[in-house]
Amino acid sequence: MKIILETERLLLREMTQQDYPMLSAILQDAQTMYAYEGPFSDEETQAWLERNLKRYKEDGFGLWAVALKETGIMIGQAGLTWQTIGDAKVLEVGYLFNRAYWGKGYATEAALACKKYAFSQLHAKEVYSIIRDTNIASMNVAIRGGMLARIRFVKHYRGADMPHLVFSAKRDDMHI
Ligand SMILES: CC(C)(COP(=O)(O)OP(=O)(O)OC[C@H]1O[C@@H](n2cnc3c(N)ncnc32)[C@H](O)[C@@H]1OP(=O)(O)O)[C@@H](O)C(=O)NCCC(=O)NCCS
Repeated sequence: MKIILETERLLLREMTQQDYPMLSAILQDAQTMYAYEGPFSDEETQAWLERNLKRYKEDGFGLWAVALKETGIMIGQAGLTWQTIGDAKVLEVGYLFNRAYWGKGYATEAALACKKYAFSQLHAKEVYSIIRDTNIASMNVAIRGGMLARIRFVKHYRGADMPHLVFSAKRDDMHI
């Protein structure tokens, strides 16, 4: 088990194939996935897992499993991925949590740790969160994590046009 980050209540570690059931509890839940145009199929869930395993190898980071320190249970995913906004390639902090664990501050705790990792370990100048304009809970995680809304753009995903807001935090503003 490759542990990447530790916070007060959480461990962030690389996902493995064994995490498929906990991953599907997140990605195949309709309410959790409303901002992604609906729940994933088994094939889409497996492809998501494999994409992250590939990211660990090729980029050195990706979406990691978030586990409760107390129990070791995987309650969500958070991490860093390369994304594109127009022609720009940006480092994004992403997070998706099992619905049973919403409303406890876990996503904000994990997102803050990922943001710090991007600045201190990856020497990023700016980190982003790209959020569908209907996803208020996610915007609040970005805001609690010290990000500001910068621009709005339309993302084409799973056959739909989805307006998104781009949030970001700049390393210079953090005095790191
Ligand atoms: C986005 C998502 C992770 C946010 O989850 P969340 O539970 O709202 O966010 P947090 O874990 O940071 O919890 C914050 C809430 O916990 C509360 N809280 C309770 N105990 C807390 C504690 N000890 N510390 C901090 N906050 C605490 C906060 O007051 C806040 O409540 P509020 O939303 O009523 O203001 C979740 O909605 C999700 O998984 N959505 C589906 C996937 C998705 O859309 N991801 C983002 C794509 S851009």
